[in-house]
Amino acid sequence: MDKLLSVEQLTPSHIEEIFNRAQTFKRKGIKKELNGDWVLMFLEPSTRTRLSFEKALQHLGCRTYLFSSESSSMKKGETLLDTVLTLKAQGFDGLVIRTPINGQLEEIKDLDIKVVNAGDGTNEHPTQALIDAFTLKEIFGNLEGLKILYVGDINFSRVFRSGLKLLKKLNARVGICAPRSLKPTDLSLLGVDKDFNNIEEALAWCDVAIFLRIQKERQNKPLITSERDYLKTFGLTPQRAQFLRNHGKFYMHPGPVNRNVEISAQEVYGKNSLILRQVENGVFIRAAVIDFLYSNEG
Ligand code: NCD
Repeated sequence: MDKLLSVEQLTPSHIEEIFNRAQTFKRKGIKKELNGDWVLMFLEPSTRTRLSFEKALQHLGCRTYLFSSESSSMKKGETLLDTVLTLKAQGFDGLVIRTPINGQLEEIKDLDIKVVNAGDGTNEHPTQALIDAFTLKEIFGNLEGLKILYVGDINFSRVFRSGLKLLKKLNARVGICAPRSLKPTDLSLLGVDKDFNNIEEALAWCDVAIFLRIQKERQNKPLITSERDYLKTFGLTPQRAQFLRNHGKFYMHPGPVNRNVEISAQEVYGKNSLILRQVENGVFIRAAVIDFLYSNEG
């Protein structure tokens, strides 16, 4: 396997292999001489994803090159396919790509170059799903039967779409809780075990709640009445965070957090928040995925 474009490519044994590598990197540090040239192509904003890939690649002994979308020939209308053929001709070995367009990486799936999908539109974000599952495995030991709840902007979330597929492969149970306006009408809810409208009932059901950012940039009209109301009806208020803690439950968020919308400002890094642990694990999982692509060549 030379590309990770979708969670669908991963078997449970691939996942285990990636987790084992990540665990070793976390324990012993990331140190390798893979000696590749990688382009970081981020056609959408990013802080943690881009920097964690960059750090991971550099520790693996690869050189990283930034592709700036604003000043690239894609602005002049060059397709992704032509851009990647150009980079391949220049001798680059791999690409980490984030794009606002669902499924755009299909264009380059047959090219002989390594690729990691760092998020395509509302479609997939496989490394974030791996980070979240790995973080849960560290806490709970095993994901089998674990009840994981996604709260919020299910409709526009690639983190949810990849997460659902990955967690089902690991035999976890997945629930959702969202206002009707943020629930998908397509088939992406296939495989969801529970569909809640009431956050209190949802939090009582789950072992861990993953709060999702309201993706305003993808919505062409406002889909929540007000941010204050949203926090009250679907957000993690201090009372709800306390409820989770009292019952030994945890909460997560892939970031970036809208404080006082998805989570009360004072609870973002509160006790039982796994948010910074997700960020920390991001570097190890991304290093593990790239190392995995090198070791599964051919
Ligand atoms: C997510 C993304 O870009 O999909 N962020 C991330 O990668 N950590 C989630 C988001 O933007 O809400």
